[in-house]
Amino acid sequence: MSLRVLTGITTTGTPHLGNYVGAIRPAIAASRGADVESFFFLADYHALIKCDDPARIERSRLQIAATWLAAGLDPQRVFFYRQSDIPEIPELTWLLTCVTAKGLMNRAHAYKASVDANAAAGAEPDDGVTMGLFSYPILMAADILMFNAHSVPVGRDQVQHIEMTRDIAQRFNYLFGNGREFFVLPEAAVDESVATLPGLDGRKMSKSYDNTVPLFEGGAKGLREAIARIVTDSRVPGEPKDPDSTSLTALFEAFATAEEREIFRAELRNGLGWGEAKQRLVAQIEREIAPMRERYETLIAEPEKIEAILQEGARKARAIATPLLADLRAAVGLRPMLAVPVAAKEADAKATPQRAVFKQYRESDGLFYFKLTDAQGRLLLQSTGFAQGRDAGQWVGRLKNERLLPVDAPVALADGVVRDEVLAALASFAED
Ligand code: TRP
Repeated sequence: MSLRVLTGITTTGTPHLGNYVGAIRPAIAASRGADVESFFFLADYHALIKCDDPARIERSRLQIAATWLAAGLDPQRVFFYRQSDIPEIPELTWLLTCVTAKGLMNRAHAYKASVDANAAAGAEPDDGVTMGLFSYPILMAADILMFNAHSVPVGRDQVQHIEMTRDIAQRFNYLFGNGREFFVLPEAAVDESVATLPGLDGRKMSKSYDNTVPLFEGGAKGLREAIARIVTDSRVPGEPKDPDSTSLTALFEAFATAEEREIFRAELRNGLGWGEAKQRLVAQIEREIAPMRERYETLIAEPEKIEAILQEGARKARAIATPLLADLRAAVGLRPMLAVPVAAKEADAKATPQRAVFKQYRESDGLFYFKLTDAQGRLLLQSTGFAQGRDAGQWVGRLKNERLLPVDAPVALADGVVRDEVLAALASFAED
């Protein structure tokens, strides 16, 4: 069985170079591996927790979808969808919410950070905390468990959420699994080898430090202008420079081969001017990014195409989510109302391994008949008489195989029996 890898991307903000090097590029490379099934989705329900600006949500969803596609994500090969297109996810969230201890959520780092900040400011502990923020980890657990992902590549800050997902999954399996493991327990995959890219000022590149280099937005010009703002020391051209005194070198290295890195470092030590070095950095990044930016701009100009790709992704994802959710609903007791309740049937099946049966026999009139009785021996269906035993046998085979009751079937419902009871009995032949 192939490894299922799942990653969610919260749709606030615009992707920058740090996102590309630290997350997008390695994730797309990993999705090309043999024996992996990758799930990438836009966590736009999560985005609502952090942002109440609809225009920003809309723009960010489009930009992020276009970015991943332009960067080489192949929607034929992977599952690429929006969280908000999968209604099974919020439904699963509720089923999980009902088995999640409030105390577990009290321990979530993001929630605790808000409480601590409120305490420091002398405010009420839960000031400004919505239920969305508080329950954030449960929605994330639903994202992961809905597709039974084995591995979830995340940053350090998200590891606790994966641990909570495991707790919640275990609890649900225990309460409702009845011996069946509905959910795989996922593992967090924290890739220590992916260096975090420094920003313009040398600190980690991050929106919150306002030190980012945009990935595609702003075009080649925006890239040049951002690179021009990278902080360096005041050494003039010709003076030897320490390659590690600026984030310029780390940015260069993220887009260079081992050999190119060596040359760049040597040249700085030999006095390459900062202005010249920045031009080389732009050229180095452009080698990889420029063709992607062209695809990005084409995609952004045709949002309907992205919409269609995401709709198709949702269709593929729901083909997995819908049947699992149906099983989960049944497991918690949300079942169709049938005369023979599924639970009773299951309990019965455990006690006595018998179930509905077809019996074929010949009557004194010389004709061949069959009948269907339920697990308790109650008569459900009675056939008409057949001149040939083979014809009776063929009908029995067909009813067992199709587990339907065709209108032309030569049978009559027994007194007091309704069609749904017959269908439930026929359904019990599914394991044959
Ligand atoms: N919480 C994640 C983040 O902020 C985004 C996310 C939502 C996610 N659902 C997920 C990541 C499921 C992995 C799996 O980065």
